[in-house]
Amino acid sequence: MIELRSDTFTQPTDEMIQAIVEAYHQGRLGDDVAGEDEVVNELQEKAARALGKEAALLVTSGTQGNVVSLLSQTRRGDEVVVERRSHTFLFEAGAMASLGGLFPKPVDGVRGYILPETLERAISPDNPHYARTAMVVVENTHNYAGGTIIRPDQVDALARVAHDHGLIVHCDGARLFNAAVALGLPASRLVREVDSVQICFSKGLSAPVGSVVAGTREFIHEALRTRKKLGGGMRQAGIIAAPCIVALEKMVDRLKEDHENARLLYSRLAEIEGLLVDEPETNIVFIQLDNFNITAPEFAARLRERGVLVYGEYGSRIRFVLNRMVSRDDVLYTADVISEVLSAAGRR
Ligand SMILES: Cc1ncc(COP(=O)(O)O)c(C=O)c1O
Repeated sequence: MIELRSDTFTQPTDEMIQAIVEAYHQGRLGDDVAGEDEVVNELQEKAARALGKEAALLVTSGTQGNVVSLLSQTRRGDEVVVERRSHTFLFEAGAMASLGGLFPKPVDGVRGYILPETLERAISPDNPHYARTAMVVVENTHNYAGGTIIRPDQVDALARVAHDHGLIVHCDGARLFNAAVALGLPASRLVREVDSVQICFSKGLSAPVGSVVAGTREFIHEALRTRKKLGGGMRQAGIIAAPCIVALEKMVDRLKEDHENARLLYSRLAEIEGLLVDEPETNIVFIQLDNFNITAPEFAARLRERGVLVYGEYGSRIRFVLNRMVSRDDVLYTADVISEVLSAAGRR
């Protein structure tokens, strides 16, 4: 099957599995709740350096990283400005509200980017009628907007407005390295002005499990307590950290291949008359089926019959996430299948 549902389906590499075994044989695993797992400590130091932050902390998932970051830097009843189609707002089971007592304030972005003037308007006055606006979240790349990149000058401009008003800036960098590679910049440049950042190793970077949050030592000190509350304190977590180190050191540059494949898929799909295709900036391509006599679930089912997996639950939009398990030939085959399925469905 050609797996285009998400880059989270990537399997670990042989080197990652080898790294787990070696960590065990070298006696480097320890109890991470006691801070004694050498591999976790190594990952945290390396991730902090890569992100240009003082310290980092291993967490179980991107969602946990975002929740830890939000809860560690706010008080119950605070308001958090989020982009309307962001992961933190839509896809984290309402955790900021249910676990943190936080009030999400969704605003429209432009290709996923919250304009500084939009943020400025969203900040509530310091008046007892309003919740205190405490934070803004930047998602980079922005998944639902189509893997779009928030450029460093855009992040800086948003952070300037946020900081002028005393807000904390958190970056949901689940796919931050996709943005960095596409721009040819170090990831640290993209988060220079943000206070906290979460990155995932288990998406395009192919590690089986794990994310880190990074920021100041003070933030990480508090994040450690929040992670514990959420049940994220782990023991011999080096078996998770070892593949993450491989992901960080060996898998970043190859994201370029996923971006090239996304462009190839785009260029083929753009030739299909009537099909609306978003031009990709990284590894995600969205199409819209509005002009064809086929629903998204039917489209996903037709593709599955031909060996191509996509989610069919995003309304009339279909997302293709290019990843290490999908080759150039797979892309060409997928484009042909899509063309045939749409031609059989007919135009609306
Ligand atoms: C932008 C974004 N943020 C956060 C997450 C959450 O990561 P996880 O699935 O590891 O909880 C995802 C996962 O798909 C994501 O796409």
